[in-house]
Amino acid sequence: MKIRQKYGSLLICLAVLCLFVSPLCGVNAEETQEEVKERRAPDVHFVPTPQIVVDKMLEMAKVTKDDLVYDLGCGDARIVVTAAKKYGCKAVGYDIDPQRVKESLENVEKNNVGHLVKIEEKDIFTLDLSKANVITLYLLPSLNVKLIPQLEKLKPGSRIVSHDFDMKGVKPDKVVTITSKDGGAEHTVYLWTAPLKKVKEEEAESSE
Ligand SMILES: C[S@@+](CC[C@H](N)C(=O)[O-])C[C@H]1O[C@@H](n2cnc3c(N)ncnc32)[C@H](O)[C@@H]1O
Repeated sequence: MKIRQKYGSLLICLAVLCLFVSPLCGVNAEETQEEVKERRAPDVHFVPTPQIVVDKMLEMAKVTKDDLVYDLGCGDARIVVTAAKKYGCKAVGYDIDPQRVKESLENVEKNNVGHLVKIEEKDIFTLDLSKANVITLYLLPSLNVKLIPQLEKLKPGSRIVSHDFDMKGVKPDKVVTITSKDGGAEHTVYLWTAPLKKVKEEEAESSE
C-alpha cells in the first residue's frame, strides 16, 4: 500500500513538472524538436512599410491581375494583401518568424483574400523565385545584395521594388522619394527590372 502511494505521488509530481516545463521550452504540441532546432532568428526585425509607400511600390512595379507577387519577409502581409485587394493578383508572403506568419494569416482572413494570397513560414534565402513576376523587399542593403543570385533567376520583365534600400552592384531603373503623411518622414522606393543590370564595382562605389 505504502509503495503504491509513494509511486502515485511521484507520478503526480512528474505530470505537474511536464505541465510547467513544456511551455517554458516553447515546444508546441504540433512541432517536433527538429523543427524547433531548425528555426533561426530573422535577419532583420519587423518594421512595417507605411501604406502610402506600399501603394507606391505596387504602382512602380506596374502590378496587374496576371502577376504573381512575392513579398520576401512579409511581416504582417500588408503588401501582399494590398496587391490582391487592389489588383486582384495572386501573391505569396514569406516570413521566417512564426509570430509574423500568424499575424499575416489573420490579416489575409480579415481582408477576405485567402483565395489569392498564401503565407509561408520560410527562410527567403532558400526560395526559388523563378515563378514570381514581382518581388517586394523591405530588408537591408546587405540582404538585398545576398538575394542577387536568386533574383537573377527571375523571368525577363519581372520587377523588383525595395523600400528604402538599394542593391549595391545593380543599377535601378527608377528611384522615387515620397514623404509619408504620418510624421513627414522621407521614404525611397527603388525599382529594378529583370534581367538585372550589373554595374562594375568602381561604378557602384563612385555613384554612392
Ligand atoms: C522590415 S520587415 C518588412 C515587413 C513587410 N515586408 C513590410 O514591408 O511591411 C522585415 C521582415 O522580414 C522577416 N525576415 C527577416 N529575415 C528573414 C529571412 N531570412 N527569411 C524570411 N523572413 C525574414 C522579418 O521577420 C520581418 O517580418
